[in-house]
Amino acid sequence: MEPMHLRTDRLHLRRWRPEDLEPFADLNADPVVMEFFPRTLSRAESDAFADRIEQHFEEHGFGLWAVEVVDGGEFAGYVGLWSATFDASFTPAVEVGWRIARRFWGRGLAPEGARTVVADGFDRLGLPGIVSFTSVINTRSRRVMEKIGMSHDPGEDFDHPAVAANSPLRPHVLYRLTPADLDRG
Ligand SMILES: CC(C)(COP(=O)(O)OP(=O)(O)OC[C@H]1O[C@@H](n2cnc3c(N)ncnc32)[C@H](O)[C@@H]1OP(=O)(O)O)[C@@H](O)C(=O)NCCC(=O)NCCS
Repeated sequence: MEPMHLRTDRLHLRRWRPEDLEPFADLNADPVVMEFFPRTLSRAESDAFADRIEQHFEEHGFGLWAVEVVDGGEFAGYVGLWSATFDASFTPAVEVGWRIARRFWGRGLAPEGARTVVADGFDRLGLPGIVSFTSVINTRSRRVMEKIGMSHDPGEDFDHPAVAANSPLRPHVLYRLTPADLDRG
């Protein structure tokens, strides 16, 4: 049986394949894509991350889907759900996240994938809520959170414990989404 996957108008969200590793490493080595992360990833680190993603699917039944653009079949990055377990007031929680190769930016692919991913989280997985977080200064990612109807309470902003104390990337925003938000949208 084919492993589970999700489909949107323009995207296949599917499990990872060996041929994704090279374009995934290119994306993780792009300093513009990685602007709001402490640093870019080496090929070995990128491959190890892809392994952790597949492991997460096996353990939880959900994860960061490999994004394939239906028109042309190219690998574009990931969109999916992930267990956030680091120490914070809102954890443990399930987060929605995304990372898309630069040449695909600006077509609304991340929000399109994310809408389907959060619907799957509520419908199939029965999650009561989904969070998303990023550095305060990551406007692009915050736009995706806003486009999919997430809400931001500044009172829940936090310093990410895994980011160095003096880094401009440490202050984070927290956005939330519940099934009721989707019904209203
Ligand atoms: C955040 C990200 C996934 C958005 O993906 P996308 O498919 O381009 O999403 P959208 O097309 O809806 O664009 C979202 C915002 O990105 C910005 N953006 C879009 N195209 C852009 C481009 N070519 N150059 C710079 N910024 C751009 C805009 O602010 C846009 O908001 P707008 O539509 O209101 O103008 C993508 O920018 C990315 O992978 N960034 C790096 C990884 C990252 O930061 N992930 C989140 C970590 S928490």
